[in-house]
Amino acid sequence: LASVEYDLTKVEPGQQVVILWRKQPLFIRNRTPEQIAAAIKDDNAAMKDPQKDEARHKPGKAQWLILLGSCTHLGCVPTVGGGEYGGWFCPCHGSVYDTSGRIRKGPAPLNLAVPEYSFLSDTKVKIG
Ligand code: FES
Repeated sequence: LASVEYDLTKVEPGQQVVILWRKQPLFIRNRTPEQIAAAIKDDNAAMKDPQKDEARHKPGKAQWLILLGSCTHLGCVPTVGGGEYGGWFCPCHGSVYDTSGRIRKGPAPLNLAVPEYSFLSDTKVKIG
């Protein structure tokens, strides 16, 4: 299956870009220090799909979240920045994800999925 390379310099802090990968939306989000801190602060909160924030990004690259842009309920595309945790909000049935992409409220059963990817340099990733 196809892999894709992406130049991260195109994503400003606090912004997200959506690219198509294998015909599906993929989120590339450059998190602010506040968004990272909020995610880490909730590492031990009660969650449906418990995961530490550090398990959701590459070591030393906490600002970069790369996620499949598909709600784990029925596959709608969640809206960035929405919901009470400032992560994503799914407009279809109200699932709320935090700034780590972890499911916090609503019918979705799982966190937004992290695809296989690697850093080719500080500013370039290869997804897939
Ligand atoms: Fe997202 Fe149902 S598809 S909440």
